[in-house]
Amino acid sequence: MAYEKTAPPEGDMITVAGEAKLSVPDRPIIPRIAGDGIGPDITRATQRVIDAAVKKTFGGSKEIIWFDVYAGEASVAKYGENVWLPDDTIEAIKEFKVAIKGPLTTPVGGGIRSINVALRQILDLYACVRPVRYFQGVPAPVREPHKLDVVIFRENTEDIYKGIEFEEGTDEARDMIRFLKERYDTEVNPDSGIGVKPVSIQGTKRLVRMAIQYAITKKRRSVTFVHKGNIMKFTEGAFRDWGYEVAREEFREHVVLEDELWNEHGGKMPEGKILINDRIADAMFQQILLRPDEYDVIATLNLNGDYLSDACAAQVGGLGLAPGANIGSNYALFEATHGTAPRYAGKDMVNPGSLLLSAVMMLEYLGWDEAAKLTIDAMEKTIRDRTVTYDLERQMTGATRVATSTFAELIAKKIEQA
Ligand code: NAI
Repeated sequence: MAYEKTAPPEGDMITVAGEAKLSVPDRPIIPRIAGDGIGPDITRATQRVIDAAVKKTFGGSKEIIWFDVYAGEASVAKYGENVWLPDDTIEAIKEFKVAIKGPLTTPVGGGIRSINVALRQILDLYACVRPVRYFQGVPAPVREPHKLDVVIFRENTEDIYKGIEFEEGTDEARDMIRFLKERYDTEVNPDSGIGVKPVSIQGTKRLVRMAIQYAITKKRRSVTFVHKGNIMKFTEGAFRDWGYEVAREEFREHVVLEDELWNEHGGKMPEGKILINDRIADAMFQQILLRPDEYDVIATLNLNGDYLSDACAAQVGGLGLAPGANIGSNYALFEATHGTAPRYAGKDMVNPGSLLLSAVMMLEYLGWDEAAKLTIDAMEKTIRDRTVTYDLERQMTGATRVATSTFAELIAKKIEQA
């Protein structure tokens, strides 16, 4: 592969054989975009911890070979004006399959709408995966934050996010309104903007398939489809129906549907099976507050998933610690869920938790679960010790404020001594 302004370091290539089956060498090259603003600070911190966890787990026989690639402001500096996402970066992710990124500035005006959205589209990363769990010691707004432990699979490519919108007063909007009236005798106020919400069988099924497969592999208890099918029958309601179809037709021996639970099993889940149920979106927002421990893996449409993942993250103490991944059939891109926090850029101050936990998801994705667990345990202990970055320190009593790099160092030391 020829790169214009970068070159991969010595290492080996992850390969994908068939349906997202990874083959991971001992020294995988992982492209990483450090990102803008606070990106370089949290990327350095993440590398310190992850390298320590991999070394401790495998005694030096495995190692991540980080390959710096560019997007955002760093790309403009290296590749020239208006090059926010160079081909080198896309090629690197395509070649090496698994990558990680810090936050990127969204360019204002002109050119590319959002680099994040562009990456998702170009690489067809159709699932946004957001695990949300509580870390002991983190200040949270509810009494029992530890009861929430969910993994949200949000569809990433369809729904209202497809970007099919027509501004009020334009010819396109007027055309659409006239079309609806003439063709379907449907009245829409003439001063309306119009949005289109496509939800497909293919888009739904591949997302649901990934969520159920994850639940099986990770031995989770249930998969819940969250939708607003009572109102939007042929998009959100269809998502639910197609979701059940996947469960029944492709995972029959692994799953029990909610009505079967009562009709055939007397309300008692058979050992080793996964419960498949569905909830209307508004009820789900009550449920995660009132009965958080009844939910586990969640599969939902794009907009619902956007709201729900932030609401869940807030419930356990905020977005600073929320990791994320964008996953498709061929590529996976792990990412911090917050922005570039430009006020804190280069100050070695912010919380690296979101990127670090995204890197933990990446280790799990590679099958390096033990290194992932070491990292989580050490981070949890560091938070319990109340040595935390400013964002957590200001909400805790008796805590010591430490720099981003110190927080990482404390976690890495705990890993090394584990
Ligand atoms: P932001 O997430 O950068 O900041 C929101 C608030 O959270 C600020 O008070 C910030 O200081 C704080 N914060 C963020 N990350 C933190 C961390 N790791 N530790 C402690 N505090 C943290 O969101 P904002 O201000 O809306 O966006 C700034 C820039 O980031 C914009 O250019 C935006 O487009 C971009 N952005 C990029 C994202 C991505 O690349 N995935 C996601 C969201 C925003």
